[in-house]
Amino acid sequence: MEFSTQTSASLHQIKTAALGVGVFAEGILSPAAELIDRASNGAVSAAVKAEFKGKPNTHLVLRNLPGVKAERVILVGLGAQEEYKAATHTQAQACLASYCLKADLKEAVSALSSIDCKGTTLRSRAQDAAVAVCRASYRYTATFSKPEPAPQLSQFLLWTARTQASEAKAGLEQGQAIGNGVNLTRLLADLPGNICTPTYLGKTAKQLAKEFKTLKAEVLERKQIEALKMGSFLSVAKGSDEPPAFIVLRHTPSTKTKHEDGPIVLVGKGLTFDSGGISIKPAGNMDEMKYDMGGAASVLGTMRAIAELNIDREVIAVVASCENMPSGRANKPGDVVTSMSGQTIEILNTDAEGRLVLCDALTYVERFKPAAVIDMATLTGACVVALGHVNTGLFSTDDDLADELMQAGKQTGDTAWRMPMDDAYQEQLRSNFADMANIGGPPAGSVTAACFLSRFTKAYRWAHLDIAGTAWRSGKDKGATGRPVPLLVQYLLNQCR
Ligand code: BES
Ligand code: MN
Ligand code: ZN
Repeated sequence: MEFSTQTSASLHQIKTAALGVGVFAEGILSPAAELIDRASNGAVSAAVKAEFKGKPNTHLVLRNLPGVKAERVILVGLGAQEEYKAATHTQAQACLASYCLKADLKEAVSALSSIDCKGTTLRSRAQDAAVAVCRASYRYTATFSKPEPAPQLSQFLLWTARTQASEAKAGLEQGQAIGNGVNLTRLLADLPGNICTPTYLGKTAKQLAKEFKTLKAEVLERKQIEALKMGSFLSVAKGSDEPPAFIVLRHTPSTKTKHEDGPIVLVGKGLTFDSGGISIKPAGNMDEMKYDMGGAASVLGTMRAIAELNIDREVIAVVASCENMPSGRANKPGDVVTSMSGQTIEILNTDAEGRLVLCDALTYVERFKPAAVIDMATLTGACVVALGHVNTGLFSTDDDLADELMQAGKQTGDTAWRMPMDDAYQEQLRSNFADMANIGGPPAGSVTAACFLSRFTKAYRWAHLDIAGTAWRSGKDKGATGRPVPLLVQYLLNQCR
């Protein structure tokens, strides 16, 4: 798919299969809709009056308007003008793209980014538009015997003033990279656990390194993980016949600006299936635990995006991947393991395995002398209770890092909400038989999980994103969301300025 700009001053003269223009609630036309209305002798306002309320997520198709060269004009609802915001603009672009894909059109021109919108710039709107179009184009087909052919737009053009075309193009380029990263993340997460294994994730990292010359991949196998003394990670991995993988994927920018700060490190939880182990989960919805590698998937999607953009910052991704299964070799409640850091852990619940896997990865990354480490994980059901499916849980002991991540979330609409990490919560992890327990009891479950991780992150600035509620949707439209790739890519882009 190609994204570009269309800078013709006369909107009605543009030849295209579909031209998208916005209409606010109560039939208030956007400036672009006004232009088409005038060119067509009032055909737009007549149609709006007759049958279009301008509600968000609705559209009306007008074909062959007199005086207008576009084959169709798509009126896209924008809701109340005084409430118009970035999220409404994104939704409108998605609505336009979905219509075009459903109608199997190959190209479209959108005038929707030409509307000013509080808290945005043309560049940010162009970025949001490209992400929305990429998102709308995603189809999961990998495991159907006769998949329907996925419709594809070959060209999506944003209508902009000529003087602003370069701004818009920069936004589109970033948005396309983010969109590609999001869709890679969604595919990896949607793939079933019997296909997307730790080995498969390792192969995906290697494939990315083949595709992008700034990326280098290294996949450590069980023997090498043993040599590193990752006793906590391995204790989870050994319960499954599926071999674990410890993946290191490094982006070294081709432009050689040296950053004294050291690399930014991303760490992903890669449980390609979490049955709970001996503390086994109930059967209902257990299939969704194939998504327990959502952190790993978003780390790989983010690396794809930043490699495509060749961002001027060294970024290292680390994924710790295995399955959590019940077996004769699985962890048992009461077992004590020794982490790579030397700290011992009493496993009181084998289903709190994410932190057991992550803690060794967090110790491993000390060697990079990172400027910051951000881990992401579908870590706790408690985070879903606290924040639902709207915000990712953000935990950090560093206020500046937390603010930067919050800001990146707001910029992209991929929002996070900061949770507390007071020392007082640490007491819940006390164990009679080891340095710490792996669970802290029912109160504040997502906080005590973060507190557990914090014990392995003393050597650097660190933040943790709990994406248990945001990485996928349940129900009839079950599927991965690609979050928090937009937040992360935006954060990394912001670090380059
Ligand atoms: N992967 C799960 C967390 C999860 C559960 C994410 C449901 C999304 C939806 C994690 O490994 C887990 O099982 N956590 C336990 C921790 C508990 C035993 C302290 C949980 O949240 O129940
Ligand atoms: Mn679990
Ligand atoms: Zn898990």
